[in-house]
Amino acid sequence: MPEKARVGVLISGRGSNMAALLYASRLGDCPYEIVLVAANDPQAPGLKLAAGEGIATFGLSHLGMKRAAFDAIITAELERAGVTHVALAGYMRLLSPEFVAHWQGRCLNIHPSLLPKHKGLHTHQAVLDAGETETGCTIHIVTPELDDGPILGQARIAVLPRDTPETLATRVQYAEHQLYPRVLADFVTANTRPEALLARVRELALALPAAAEKRSHGSPGFYVEGGKFFAYFTDNHHGDGITALLLKVSGLDEAAMLIEQDDSRYFRPKYFGPAGWVGIKLTDGPDWAAIEAMMAAAWRLCAPKRLAMLPI
Ligand code: GRF
Repeated sequence: MPEKARVGVLISGRGSNMAALLYASRLGDCPYEIVLVAANDPQAPGLKLAAGEGIATFGLSHLGMKRAAFDAIITAELERAGVTHVALAGYMRLLSPEFVAHWQGRCLNIHPSLLPKHKGLHTHQAVLDAGETETGCTIHIVTPELDDGPILGQARIAVLPRDTPETLATRVQYAEHQLYPRVLADFVTANTRPEALLARVRELALALPAAAEKRSHGSPGFYVEGGKFFAYFTDNHHGDGITALLLKVSGLDEAAMLIEQDDSRYFRPKYFGPAGWVGIKLTDGPDWAAIEAMMAAAWRLCAPKRLAMLPI
């Protein structure tokens, strides 16, 4: 099991989304944990809730402070807590460019509309004024532009005839509490999910000359046309619990040497003619540059002579 993502949540008020993230993090094998809840208002009720659950909290009023200076303090607190990802959950502050740059690609926000519709404040009134028949909420990656950035997930709710901004807000929040934990979990595992790892392996393998893909032994396999298989992607093969790339190597010695070098990464695959193959575990931050080079070497071992001579 890879290490859990360490999430810092920023709030300004009630913190019901933070609570949804926190309680979800304690269910089953959630891939993230909440390590810090911070607020720009020391009285924010969400801080009490978090502290009551044993989570570290940080509350500091931004009043009278320059935006960049305040944000620098928040970043320092997040870093001190070893935060890997930031979740904005009702954080009613514009962020400084420095903050956004520091957490680029690792900071998510929730907004109570179906973005790109109705950015900014007074969202539910705007939805009613526009005569929308549905609304909802959106999780997106934070970019310098307010309520902008790539959308990761949305949940939709119907607008009912007698809705007011308050009734809409309540129902949108029900949806938010379902959506945020799921999207955050998907986001923090985006690079370790088997499908994502297979996509990466496939991209590298099929970039090699005359490489093709075919299922073999129940796993996606990659071979050289007119030659042999040089790589397999295995996920929980025969229930071994491992997501791995199996690569052809020159023989037992090379495999043994790699395993001796780093037996947390390399292993002897059980069902693939162990003498000529080495397994590389993919879930703990694979070294893709090394894999690319090893894959080219594997390709060369398996290519027909006329192709193996090609420079790649
Ligand atoms: C949520 O509706 C969120 O979409 C918006 O602010 C609200 C925060 O509520 N950005 P809470 O503090 O999570 O209860």
